[in-house]
Amino acid sequence: MALSWLSKSVLAILLSVSLVDAAIPNAVGRNQLHIPKLGATENAVMTPNGTALPPITMVYQFDQLIDHNKPNIGTFKQRFWMNWEFYEKGGPIILLTPGETNADGFDGYLTNRSINGMIAQQEKGATVVIEHRFFGFSNPYDNLTSQSLEVLTIQQAIDDLVYFAQTIDLPMPGGDQVKPNQAHWVLIGGSYSGALTGWTMVNKPGVFRAGWASSAVVEAITNFYDLFKPIREHMPKNCSADVEAVISHLDWLYVTNNKTALQDLQNNFGLGKITHIEDFAAALVNNLYDWQMLQPGGGQQNFYRFCDALEVKDGVSASEKGWGLQNALESWGNFWNTSYYASLCGTVDAETCLGTYDATQPYYTDVSVNNAWRSWFWMMCNEVGWYQGGPPLGQPAIVSRIIQPSYFQARDPRQCVNMFPQRFQTSGTPDVQATNRKYGGWNIKVDRVFFANGLRDHWRDATLSADGLHKVSVASQPIYEGDGFHASDMDAKNGVVDASVLRVQQAGLRFMKGWLS
Ligand SMILES: *[C@@H]1O[C@H](CO)[C@@H](O)[C@H](O)[C@H]1NC(C)=O
Ligand SMILES: *[C@@H]1O[C@H](CO)[C@@H](O)[C@H](O)[C@H]1NC(C)=O
Ligand SMILES: *[C@@H]1O[C@H](CO)[C@@H](O)[C@H](O)[C@H]1NC(C)=O
Ligand SMILES: *[C@@H]1O[C@H](CO)[C@@H](O)[C@H](O)[C@H]1NC(C)=O
Ligand SMILES: *[C@@H]1O[C@H](CO)[C@@H](O)[C@H](O)[C@H]1NC(C)=O
Ligand SMILES: *[C@@H]1O[C@H](CO)[C@@H](O)[C@H](O)[C@H]1NC(C)=O
Repeated sequence: MALSWLSKSVLAILLSVSLVDAAIPNAVGRNQLHIPKLGATENAVMTPNGTALPPITMVYQFDQLIDHNKPNIGTFKQRFWMNWEFYEKGGPIILLTPGETNADGFDGYLTNRSINGMIAQQEKGATVVIEHRFFGFSNPYDNLTSQSLEVLTIQQAIDDLVYFAQTIDLPMPGGDQVKPNQAHWVLIGGSYSGALTGWTMVNKPGVFRAGWASSAVVEAITNFYDLFKPIREHMPKNCSADVEAVISHLDWLYVTNNKTALQDLQNNFGLGKITHIEDFAAALVNNLYDWQMLQPGGGQQNFYRFCDALEVKDGVSASEKGWGLQNALESWGNFWNTSYYASLCGTVDAETCLGTYDATQPYYTDVSVNNAWRSWFWMMCNEVGWYQGGPPLGQPAIVSRIIQPSYFQARDPRQCVNMFPQRFQTSGTPDVQATNRKYGGWNIKVDRVFFANGLRDHWRDATLSADGLHKVSVASQPIYEGDGFHASDMDAKNGVVDASVLRVQQAGLRFMKGWLS
């Protein structure tokens, strides 16, 4: 969902463990925004009446149109998974795409460990997970060149969902009689796919009866420095104070063009060999991206390990002012030296792992399929932006202001241009106005979509719960906010441990009951 963009960084951890050992050394991972997986799978084996079910890990394939504007040019195989353990004749079909990621391992969203399965259980429905085009192994063409990616657009993704619903004979008893004019369909998504849920129902009304849009980033924004605001506001205060101290020191050295001190600073993190200061500044953001692994019901705790490293000294933690610049430099550098660099880059050297200036790197040139980062980059460069850099002067910064949208899109040339030279000659400036005009953005108005957000979600400022937006929740388009993180309401166990998330889940289930009756 989510995808980093700032640096070529970490995300392996984020995306999925299997990506960690991906073949491209410098594609170790990036901050993606997609929904989390729901842990190990368990198979339901029986329907309520005792019929045996195939395993939920069973992969099915759908013949999807390559180009909805040119239906004659053919089809490709789009992967999907399904579960009908709760299904009874007349029940709804509940459809999810995990969005910008390989959909393997998302079968938890077929079970009642997810909101999808909770709705299915309540409404006697069947659950389906479908892989998004150009992610995983659902590819119109067998490479990710600019030429092939021409048919990777939000509109084609919307049309895929609609064509699937209207065409599929689902592999379950009676599955050929559940088209949208015969049964209710519910579209669910989180993060980008949450936005896609709302956008689909705006763009193609009358197909999906209801929607659940979790942490739906409905507004495309080119310069999305506000990604870091919820992190800054909700992380331990001492930790944000010390991170700010280091960042403002870095930015001061940059503004005063103090080359010697900048080199010393890079050396302090063991990153002395990174050639461009922009890449060094971007590397530091990785520690903040670990925020996206947090969930009320657990999640990976790297973010807190980072803050503990900065703030706990001899068993004592700093007051909310932090320990100050000198200690922060030492402890943050030490954190990178002793563990973080290895977890991010393994044995790859710093410039190869974290540099973005060499257009000949596989990071830019590898066009093989199942490279979520590359496909997502295409969507960012063209339609949604969400470039994540430092805030304007005058706002507190936990990310360096050296990083601006140009770091990604233009100048030199930069990443969009390097990655897709056939598509972009001088700049990858996404047309976010067109995207927002077409699908509604923050002005989205659509009946029977339940918008669920989280106070601590770092993507919140692109959702309908953005600060300052004051979007009114109405019965036809409810907006609920718990104090969870990214797409927290989609995971049943977050409701078990956090009453505010439970309240969101229960409200959404009540709306579904009304909308599907
Ligand atoms: C979830 O579904 C399983 C069957 O797969 C069932 O045994 C269990 O009771 C359900 N959990 C809840 C909370 O209803
Ligand atoms: C990529 O796929 C397109 C469409 O199938 C094909 O025309 C082109 O030759 C392929 N390019 C590479 C570099 O594989
Ligand atoms: C059980 O339900 C399935 C549909 O899920 C149906 O095809 C089958 O005939 C039913 N079996 C019995 C014994 O009612
Ligand atoms: C560069 O920064 C260092 C460390 O802050 C400082 O001691 C030095 O005076 C600065 N040099 C210049 C030319 O500003
Ligand atoms: C200081 O940092 C520690 C370690 O991350 C954290 O547990 C504690 O809550 C923080 N205290 C304040 C006042 O920010
Ligand atoms: C990290 O390692 C580099 C050399 O690899 C060293 O110069 C630097 O002092 C170390 N930083 C800390 C904080 O230990």
